[in-house]
Amino acid sequence: MTKSSRITLSVLATAILASMATLAVVHARHTPDDAPPTPALKVKDSQGTVVGSYRIPSDSQIAALPDGKEILYGKRLLNETARLLPTHVGDGLNCNSCHLAEGKLGAAGPYINAYNTYPTFKSRAGRKVSLTERINGCFQRSMNGVPLAPDSREMLAMKAYMKWLAQGVPTGDKVDVVNAGKIDTSLVPDPVRGKQIYGEQCASCHGDSGEGMKDQFGDYIFPPLWGNDSYNIGAGMARTYKAAAFIKYNMPLAAGRNKPLGQGGVLTDQDAVDVAQYFTHQPRPDFPGKINDWKNQKKPKDARY
Ligand code: HEC
Ligand code: HEC
Repeated sequence: MTKSSRITLSVLATAILASMATLAVVHARHTPDDAPPTPALKVKDSQGTVVGSYRIPSDSQIAALPDGKEILYGKRLLNETARLLPTHVGDGLNCNSCHLAEGKLGAAGPYINAYNTYPTFKSRAGRKVSLTERINGCFQRSMNGVPLAPDSREMLAMKAYMKWLAQGVPTGDKVDVVNAGKIDTSLVPDPVRGKQIYGEQCASCHGDSGEGMKDQFGDYIFPPLWGNDSYNIGAGMARTYKAAAFIKYNMPLAAGRNKPLGQGGVLTDQDAVDVAQYFTHQPRPDFPGKINDWKNQKKPKDARY
């Protein structure tokens, strides 16, 4: 990199940091009451027939609901998981570090269909899993931590938030929103090219060594992408094509003016696959429970073990 482009980048990074600090706080709190209503999404039954419509509900209505306190507690836990549940979280992440915009955004791991689609068959487990087990799966892998008791106040609150977000969509029906965007899984990853893309597109926020960046209170403002404070090798995000599908549509943040965080729209499929291969394969915690994964099922080609 030339000296002048370095200077421009660091100025840019400072500007981004300032705007991101605001964004991170704003998006963590609520959708402003005067925000335009989100477009209606179709609700489909298991045959794909349209049976209704869905709108993302407004947070401003939660407090008036009979279980409003519980829903708001769940919302806080999902936003500030590392800080509020230190005995259950082993890394520096919050649930919403990956489930962006409080789980309300397509292709960014929305929680919109979580309540109505579980229990469901999962090939990694080789059996049906409940929503409680799925959440605890993210605690053990993505959070590199320990599960919550199924009937704990915290687990019930997170599920109450997801139930509220589902807005009464019946079990088996689905809101027409994707959990992950499409990525070409036939592409061969090039980690050397990925390292270069990482330096150009990611390091300004996530750090030269994937270490992320903390605020003055010691909470991550930009989450780490590898090392001891990152998710373990058992996480979905440790797999090249899953990470690539997330990154293509959601990173880098603040690159444009679309979506709540101005993210995505910068990387090609090949870029996303290359940079995903690079950072997912940097050192990260092991996952002892891996011996039980894909026991009777065919492993996906990007499985880590
Ligand atoms: C490192 C990123 C990451 C973090 C952090 C994370 N998750 Fe996830 N989560 C994922 C990915 C990726 C998937 C989809 C995995 C798959 O395809 O099986 C997922 C799936 C889910 C699902 C299933 C959604 C559905 O509709 O099937 C739920 C519910 C969920 N996570 C909740 C949580 C909760 C609660 C936390 C915090 C305790 C959390 N996640 C933390 C990445 C993450
Ligand atoms: C402008 C700052 C910024 C840039 C640039 C950026 N990210 Fe992020 N990234 C974030 C923030 C902030 C989050 C957490 C989202 C949230 O809290 O709403 C995040 C979350 C993530 C996550 C999920 C959480 C985790 O720690 O694993 C991954 C993976 C990720 N980014 C990868 C990338 C990659 C790869 C690039 C480069 C192509 C990139 N990011 C560029 C700010 C950025």
